[in-house]
Amino acid sequence: MIPCQRDLFDIPEGVTYLNCAYMSPMMRAVAHEGRAGLERKMQPWKIRPADFFTQSEELRACAARFFLCPADDIAIVPSASYGIQMAAGNLPLAPGKKILVLEEQFPSNFYPWQRLARRNSGALRTVALPADGDWTSAVLSALNNDVGIAALPHVHWTTGGLLDLTRIGAACRELGIALALDLTQSLGVYPFDVNAVQPDFAVAAAYKWLMGPYSLAVTYVAPKWQQGFPLEESWLQRANARDFSDLRYTDAYMTGARRFDMGEHSNFATMPAAIAAIRQLLDWGVHEISETVGALNRHLLQRLEPLGIQIWPERLRAPHYLCLRSDRLPTAGMVEKLAAEGIYVSLRGASIRITPHVYNSVEEVERVGDRLLELAVKDKSGLRA
Ligand SMILES: Cc1ncc(COP(=O)(O)O)c(C=O)c1O
Repeated sequence: MIPCQRDLFDIPEGVTYLNCAYMSPMMRAVAHEGRAGLERKMQPWKIRPADFFTQSEELRACAARFFLCPADDIAIVPSASYGIQMAAGNLPLAPGKKILVLEEQFPSNFYPWQRLARRNSGALRTVALPADGDWTSAVLSALNNDVGIAALPHVHWTTGGLLDLTRIGAACRELGIALALDLTQSLGVYPFDVNAVQPDFAVAAAYKWLMGPYSLAVTYVAPKWQQGFPLEESWLQRANARDFSDLRYTDAYMTGARRFDMGEHSNFATMPAAIAAIRQLLDWGVHEISETVGALNRHLLQRLEPLGIQIWPERLRAPHYLCLRSDRLPTAGMVEKLAAEGIYVSLRGASIRITPHVYNSVEEVERVGDRLLELAVKDKSGLRA
């Protein structure tokens, strides 16, 4: 278990932030790196051509450690939507074949597939919210020869449902179905292994569980797609980009997934910030983070026992996610009421979504549990049906 790390963050006393799935707070040291990076451009004569690559390579190498893949397989992109669009632009889809998505899947992992399906005279096949909370079984039974691509998350963002991607990956391979993943709600807080899952593409935005800045994401590109088409044709992706004095046109790209990097990936402010954040996460360890955050959620849940919350067993839900829904919760205006008291959670679908991190303490989540209980009992008149 990781002891509470609140001192590393700028979270004032009186604020209980339980909303990492919305946006993580940036660590003080990370913000410092970002500010220093931004200020480098005040003296551009100190920025050398090699600097356009050094930090991007460092970020690639750090991010690869979450996927358990070589740095070569990682592309640096601005958002999850960008990475998914890249996948949609590169994965072949036979006419009429279907693309599998989940009900209430995050829009960035929906719209690119909707467009591709329409263009391909195909259709989306949507896996309905499973009544028993078992997304894995629901996905496995929806995979068949009609499906060409499965576009899925590891953790379902409104319910916290966990998908067994190793089993789903194996089923996809057996049926010749491509697998594109959005790991934004899991990478950095829940273990992932590309070798076990073998996806074709897997993207994660950096501003949530990777604790990095906004407008940055990383994408794993399986080696078999690394000769594909990037979304942008930037000079920085080409094989000769390191020699600023001779950027004559060439068809050759840099090696590995680098051809998929976004233009101007060498962002002098966001790169060092993201690297510092990821280094700290790696230092804590993803398993350890997952255990720590999972234990915080269990504490909170114990406090809420009297409410009879419906919650799926741990194998079906992500430990870092608690989506609370019962006939007494959420009450009308509960999230706003809590925010007025300095307690920050989200309302997603019909659930209160609670997503702590290592800056939260056991005492804090227990206090929130007690407060939720009070509100649920007191506001009985405003109970949802
Ligand atoms: C599952 C999931 N994917 C992606 C994103 C962010 O997408 P983008 O980077 O395209 O803004 C979010 C943000 O809430 C998310 O929950």
